[in-house]
Amino acid sequence: PRGPVKNICCIGAGYVGGPTCAVLAWKCPDIKVTITDISEERIAAWNSEELPIFEPGLDAVVKEARGRNLFFSTDVDGSIAAADLIFVSVNTPTKEAGIGAGLAADLCYVEAATRRIATVSKKGAIIVEKSTVPCRTAESMRKILEAVSPSTDASFEILSNPEFLAEGTAIEDLLDPARVLIGAMPTPGGQLAQQRLAEVYARWVRPEAIITMGLWSSELSKLAANALLAQRVSSINAIAAICEKTEANVHEVSSACRLDLRIGSKFLEAGVGFGGSCFQKDLQNLIYLSLSLGLPEVAEYWKQVLVMNAWTKRRFSKDIVQKMFSTITSKHIAVLGFAFKADTGDTREAPAIDVCRDLLEDGAVVHIYDPKVSEASIDRALMAKGACSHTATKGKGYIVEPSMQQACAGASALVFMTNWTEFSSKQVDWKAIYQSMSKPAFIFDGRNVVKDVEALKKIGFSVYKSGVGY
Ligand code: NAD
Ligand code: UGA
Repeated sequence: PRGPVKNICCIGAGYVGGPTCAVLAWKCPDIKVTITDISEERIAAWNSEELPIFEPGLDAVVKEARGRNLFFSTDVDGSIAAADLIFVSVNTPTKEAGIGAGLAADLCYVEAATRRIATVSKKGAIIVEKSTVPCRTAESMRKILEAVSPSTDASFEILSNPEFLAEGTAIEDLLDPARVLIGAMPTPGGQLAQQRLAEVYARWVRPEAIITMGLWSSELSKLAANALLAQRVSSINAIAAICEKTEANVHEVSSACRLDLRIGSKFLEAGVGFGGSCFQKDLQNLIYLSLSLGLPEVAEYWKQVLVMNAWTKRRFSKDIVQKMFSTITSKHIAVLGFAFKADTGDTREAPAIDVCRDLLEDGAVVHIYDPKVSEASIDRALMAKGACSHTATKGKGYIVEPSMQQACAGASALVFMTNWTEFSSKQVDWKAIYQSMSKPAFIFDGRNVVKDVEALKKIGFSVYKSGVGY
C-alpha cells in the first residue's frame, strides 16, 4: 500500500524543520510539503517577508517554493491527516526538573507530536524521527502510536533520519549533505518505508551519501557525531590552555595537526568554547544514556568534554579581568558578536551569555553589538541565565549598540565573541576605533578574528588571543 511519497508534513517549524523541509519542497516541486507548528507567531513569520530565522540562502529557497508546494500552517492535525510521510522536528531540550534533570532529554514534545500522529494520521503513514533523540526513542514512539491509535489495524512505520546541518551553513549542508542516514527496523514494512524516504532524498542527494542502517544505530550515530565534534573543540581548547602558559601558539599547533590526514582539518579552531543548542544538550543526553546503561566510566569520559568547555568560557572572563589590572568595575567593555557562531542569529548556549554575565557581575558596563541578534533576543538570553535583573534603578547594566564603532567608542576593551566576517574585514578602521577608545585599549579575541596582531599592537592596542601565549 505504500506508494511513492506525495504529501509530507513536518511537525516543528524551527531551525531544523523550516530549512530542511523548505529545501525538500524546493527540490521536489511535485511533493506537497506542509510545515506545521503550535506557535502561531513562528508560522506567521514563516509566511511573512521576515523569516523567523536568519540563514544564508534560506530566503531565496522559501520565496520560490512557498505557495507553490511549500506551506506553513498552524493546522497541525489537518497537516498530519493529509500526509503520507511525517517528519517529527520538534525540540528535545534537556530536562530542567524531575528524574534526569540537567542531563536527560525532555521528550514531552516528541510524545505530544506522536500522540497527535496516532490520533489523526492516515493509515500507512511513515513517521520519521528528525529530532535528535535518545537511542531507542522510536520504540517508545511505537508503543504510544499503538496504544493511542483509534484504529485496530493501524500499521505505523517509524524511521530515524537525524539531521546533521550546522546553523549558518544549513542550506549548503542540506543541498549537499555529507550523508543522509535512514534507520529502519529490519522488517519488510520497515525496509519499504526506508526505500520510500531514500527515493525522496535521491532526487537531489548523491546516491552514495544516502546510507541505510538499523534504527538504533541511526539514532545513536547522531549523538555520536555531535559528541565527537564537541570533543575536538574541547581537545583543542585544552591544548590552547597549555599554549597560553608556554608561549606557544595554538593556531600554529593546530595547523601542524591538521596536516595529518588521520586527524583532519576541521573543528580544531580554539577559542572561547562551543555554544549552540545541540552540543551540550546531546552530550548530556549521551552521558545520561551511559549512566542509565550502568556505564559510569563512559559517562565520566564524555562529561569531561563539557567540563573543559565550561572552564574555557570562565577562564576567558577571568583573563579579561586580570589583564585589565584585576578590576573592571565601571569600565566600559564592547562585546562584539553575541550569536553562538557567525551567520546565525541564534543565541542558544552562546558563550557570549556566560562572558557577559561574568563581566556584568564584576561591575563592567557592557556594550553589545551583533549584526543579526536583536535586542529582544539578547535580553531574553541574559535574563534566562540570571545575568541581568532589569531593575528600574540599575537598568540592564548593558547597552545594545547598532554598530561595532558605536560599541567601541569610549570602551576600555573590546571582546570578540563571534567570528562575524565584518569584524575581520579590511573596511574596519582600526586607527579610528583605537582613537575612540579609553586607554590603554585592550582587545580580547575569543574567536580568532584578529589575524594580524602585530599591526594592531603597532596602533597601540594590547591584544590577547585565546590560545596564544605572550
Ligand atoms: P526549535 O525549538 O527551533 O524548533 C522546534 C519547534 O517545534 C518549535 O517551533 C516548537 O513550537 C515546535 N513544536 C514543539 N512541540 C510541537 C508540537 N507538539 N506540535 C507542533 N509543533 C511543536 O528546535 P530546532 O533547533 O529546530 O531543533 C529541533 C530538533 O532538531 C532538536 O531535537 C535538535 O536537537 C535537532 N537538531 C537541531 C539542529 C540545529 O542546528 N538547531 C541541527 C540538527 C538537529
Ligand atoms: C552542530 C554540528 O556541527 C551539526 O552537524 C549538528 O547537526 C548540529 O550541531 C546539531 O545537532 O544541532 P551547530 O551547533 O549549528 O552544528 O554549529 P557548529 O558549527 O558545530 O558550531 C558549534 C560551536 O562550536 C560554535 O559555538 C562554534 O563557534 C564552536 N566551534 C566550532 C569551535 O569553537 N571551534 C571549532 O573548530 C568549531
